[in-house]
Formats: sequence, structure tokens, C-alpha cells
Amino acid sequence: MTVFLVAIPGLENALEREATALGFADAAIVPGGVEVAGDLAEAAHANLHLRCAARVLWRVAEFRAMHLAQLDKRARKVPWTNWLRTDVPVRVEAVCRKSRIYHDKAAAQRVAGAIIAAGVPVAETAEVVVKARIDDDLCTISLDTTGEALHRRGHKEFVGKAPLRETIAAAFLDQMGFDGSQAVVDPMCGSGTIPIEAAEIAAGLAPGRSRRFAFEHLVGAVRPDIEPSATPLTPRFFGFDRNDGAIRGARENASRADVADWCRFERQAISDLEPPHGPPGIVLTNPPYGGRIGDRKLLFGLYGSLGRVLAERFSDWRIGIVTSDGGLAKATGLELTPSGPVSHGGTKITLWTRM
Ligand SMILES: C[S@@+](CC[C@H](N)C(=O)[O-])C[C@H]1O[C@@H](n2cnc3c(N)ncnc32)[C@H](O)[C@@H]1O
Repeated sequence: MTVFLVAIPGLENALEREATALGFADAAIVPGGVEVAGDLAEAAHANLHLRCAARVLWRVAEFRAMHLAQLDKRARKVPWTNWLRTDVPVRVEAVCRKSRIYHDKAAAQRVAGAIIAAGVPVAETAEVVVKARIDDDLCTISLDTTGEALHRRGHKEFVGKAPLRETIAAAFLDQMGFDGSQAVVDPMCGSGTIPIEAAEIAAGLAPGRSRRFAFEHLVGAVRPDIEPSATPLTPRFFGFDRNDGAIRGARENASRADVADWCRFERQAISDLEPPHGPPGIVLTNPPYGGRIGDRKLLFGLYGSLGRVLAERFSDWRIGIVTSDGGLAKATGLELTPSGPVSHGGTKITLWTRM
């Protein structure tokens, strides 16, 4: 059996590196993500510890299905109750690609029928999802072991405007060479995603420590214990924003994540930004981008000021700017190298760096 780590489009390599570092055997990049060897225990481990995966699927069965009657018959041979509990309802999602069976809904109905016949209840609103993917007449059955997507760590109650996903923040920190020892400054931190993610990495806190997962509803599931974390001694993770509400929210988010002692959030406009004491570290930020026509002119001014402040006061620091607009990245006047793009809920964003 294999565990399929769903990647955020553009972060497949980052996910492969992370999975290998976490000890997964034979991590291989495949379309849509990374495949690793394993079963429920590995899927649970991946959910609790991977920082940049979007979701974790456990592939439990595979068979050919040329037409709906065959799908129905073969789905009934799948040993559903090896994994699904008769007291926990599930829901079925199906997709058909380049196959003789082309009707997603009809395919889902057949699989649901087989599951019901095995004694497992099926309900539209169930938390546990069984995924059937029919590709080239080959039907792969996976169990979604995650539930709510993995960027939802369970700490960010305040979200602010255009928050960055935790998964992407973690991958970009890694791309900037962050290993937990450097200071991290986000001059436009919004809800605090980047400094909070950095503090968690430095403290060795498992990203899934505070939330529940779909795998906990499967047969034989045990939620593994999480090792206690290391403790950073000095606050080296800084977030600034000109918006008072954002700073209040970021502080609350940091408290919920148990990293408030190592983070500092202050209301401050970009023009007042100064490097904190100590050795140079990493500036990583995602300034406002996109927005309505007409805003772009103002944004050019903002990126220009950001660039000037960073060039003058942060000359020895690594710089990472996350934006969907290459013209705005250039408006910083900094010599930045793009990498990506990465899909952020449909918008293509790029990390521009000076290393
Ligand atoms: C795209 S949001 C950042 C989102 C953040 N990464 C998160 O995950 O929540 C951009 C932020 O820049 C802030 N901002 C805009 N102009 C600013 C300025 N001149 N100085 C400081 N912050 C500014 C906004 O208040 C907003 O919170």
C-alpha cells in the first residue's frame, strides 16, 4: 500500500525533500504530489509532522473498471471494513479521466453502493471521504486521512486580509535556508503566519499537534504521541504591520500556537522598519498584491519604499518577497531571483529572493 502526499502545485520538490528528511522511504514525485511507502501509521505520521503537504491520502485498492457494472462488482470485493468502521459514516467522491466510465456521479454511486453493502453507512455530510479516481480505466481507491486541509493548523482564528497558507509559508522559509537558528522578520505580517510558522519550526513543534484528523475515525487508528519540543530562548521572530487589528490578531494566533514568548508583533509602518539586534537573518514577507484596478499605482509606491528600506538597512539579510505580480517585485529595485510559481488557492504566487 502507498501513501500519497498531495502537493500544493509548485511545491512538489519541496514536499519530496521534506518527506525524505522526515524519514519516509522511497519518496517519489508523481503528478499531483509525492508517493511514499506505507499504511495508516505512516499516513498518521505524515499528517502530524509534514509542514508543506496539502493533504494525505492512503491508497488502499486498485482495480480495472471498464464499465459501471464492472465497477459495481469489483468495488464489492474491496474489503472496506478492514479500514472503515460500521459506526462512522463516509462519503464518496469520484473523478473519471480518459476512461470509458466518464460519469463522476454514477461512479461515486456505484462505489457508495458497495460500501453500504459492506455495512458502512454513507452520508452526504460525512467527515471521512473515500476517493475513487478512475484514470485510463484503472480505478484507485484512496481514503482521505486528513479531513480539513493541512494548512489549517488550528491556531489561526484571526485571518486578516489575504492570509498566506501555513504550508506555503513553511516551504518558502525552507527555500530561504531557514533552519530554526536565524531571526525572521515580516514587515507586513497580517495575521502573523510567517513569524508563527518560523517559531514553530525553531521550537520543533509538530504542525498537527492541535487539530484532529480524518484518520482518527478509521479502523485501528491510534493518534501517535508527539515528542516534546525544544525551546528557543530568545524571541527572534518579528512581525510588523501598520494595521492595529492585524497585530492584535497575530498576537492571539501566536498565543494559541504556544509560541507567543518567541515572537514580537508591533504596529509599525514599513518606513520605520529597523533590523532587530543580533546577527542578520531572513526577511520574508508577502506585501499586498492584486486587488482592484487603480490600486497597482499605489502598490508600486509601497514596493518601492519596501525595497529602499531593505536595501539601506538590511544589506546583510536574506530577502524573500512573495507576490503574484512580477512588475511589483521589480519595483522594489532589489536584485531578486524568482522561483515558482506556486498555486495559492488559484492565484499564482512567486517567491523572489536575494540570498
Ligand atoms: C497580503 S497581507 C499579508 C498577509 C500575511 N502574510 C498573513 O498570512 O496574514 C499584507 C499586509 O500588509 C500590510 N501593509 C500594507 N501596507 C503597509 C505598510 N506601509 N506598512 C506596514 N504594513 C503594511 C497590510 O495591513 C496587510 O496586513
